[in-house]
Amino acid sequence: MNKISVLFVCLGNICRSPAAEAIFIRLLEKNGLTDAFIVDSAGTGSWHIGKKADSRMRIAAERRDINILSKARQITSKDFDEFNYILAMDDSNFKNIQDLKNRTASTGFAAIKKIQDFRSVFNEQEVPDPYFGGDEGFDYVLDILEDSVKGFLESIS
Ligand code: 4NP
Repeated sequence: MNKISVLFVCLGNICRSPAAEAIFIRLLEKNGLTDAFIVDSAGTGSWHIGKKADSRMRIAAERRDINILSKARQITSKDFDEFNYILAMDDSNFKNIQDLKNRTASTGFAAIKKIQDFRSVFNEQEVPDPYFGGDEGFDYVLDILEDSVKGFLESIS
């Protein structure tokens, strides 16, 4: 069976997309679907390459029994060939991903979408960047993502 591959993308790959990745992995575990998927995350920017996720996000996630283990990397045009779904956290990420695809003349098959297209409980059309705000912003991002990541899984199952 071919696995379904999903790449979550934000700006720095240290707050939102690693959280989305870890939430999705946890959801797959709960549903016995781990073996059916390949899951990863990346940033459009390069500042934090190789770094663990922001400790504020890791701590907020651990309180929900979600472990964020990923190390930051930058999206590359190869990702358009390797992932079925590339899911952007906000409009700016979405545009930067599209720009990369156009600039590199990629013919990759990845469907590029915004994760908030799959929201049901929360009205936010973008996942807000919590990096420069207070601790409560990290919990809010996790709340939003738990909703929209679940919606994404339901949309493809
Ligand atoms: P993320 O948050 O895109 O959710 O990982 C950010 C992390 C770092 C920066 C901006 C946003 N930064 O400017 O370094």
